Amino acid sequence: MKILTTIPEVRETLNAHRAAGRTVGFVPTMGALHAGHKSLMLASVPENDITIVSIFVNPLQFAPGEDLEAYPRDLETDAALCTEAGADYIFAPSVSEMYPEPIETTVSLTGVSEPLDGQSRPTHFSGVATVVTKLFSIIGSCSAYFGEKDFQQLAIIRKMSLDLSLDVRVVGCPIHRETDGLAMSSRNIYLTPEERADSVVLNQALAKGIAAIDAGETDPAAVRDLMAAHIATADSGTLDYAEVVDARTLLTPQVLSGEVRALVAVQFGKARLIDNMGTTVAVSGSA
Ligand code: PAF
Repeated sequence: MKILTTIPEVRETLNAHRAAGRTVGFVPTMGALHAGHKSLMLASVPENDITIVSIFVNPLQFAPGEDLEAYPRDLETDAALCTEAGADYIFAPSVSEMYPEPIETTVSLTGVSEPLDGQSRPTHFSGVATVVTKLFSIIGSCSAYFGEKDFQQLAIIRKMSLDLSLDVRVVGCPIHRETDGLAMSSRNIYLTPEERADSVVLNQALAKGIAAIDAGETDPAAVRDLMAAHIATADSGTLDYAEVVDARTLLTPQVLSGEVRALVAVQFGKARLIDNMGTTVAVSGSA
């Protein structure tokens, strides 16, 4: 497993592999890798001849006052996990390699980027879309693997790749959870023991919401209230949002039908946690 740090090195290496007929799988990350990231690599390795993982804490997607400086960084431990998962390369650029000059070109979306986290973190998705476009341009033709935990991010990357005809096959991978249901996240390390114990309410609230939908509830407000009430039982958490949306548009319909997604965001001290779960509501008249 080799660590590359410059854009020309990555281009030269991957172009040589593609010229020899090899396919490339790409796992973009910000490091602080855990079993959720490993599952993305394990999805890529058997599907591609070469797997490259990027590790870059992207300043553009952090607003002032967010955890850019505190975000955990440990390249040695990350490299060991990538090796274990069978990845071939890490791309770990410096900030000056990625942004040699103050950036004047950004990528931003309307539609899917506007609700949910788009309301709570108004500059975040433009930072993500910009760096992912840049990473796709550096990596070149590939299949790229993203976790469904960041469900809105995945929807944005799919839409942006389609809108801009990017030469990337975007692959969504299932959420990886701790045994008590907490979705794995690099930010879970910020949780105090009390917050960690309380943090299971995200998964529980989603399970309750989805169970209500599966039992016939089609009013999104009723499901939202049910999930919010459960999250309110956790003393250390503050609800940001609990919503049920159309899984494709991410908008709240009047009546739930077809593929829907329940999503929650809760602040626990220094950690803002997000999670989601989906189900399908049979459209009346369909089998
Ligand atoms: O999900 C992440 O880790 C980041 O948002 C990503 C996609 C690597 C962009 O910095």
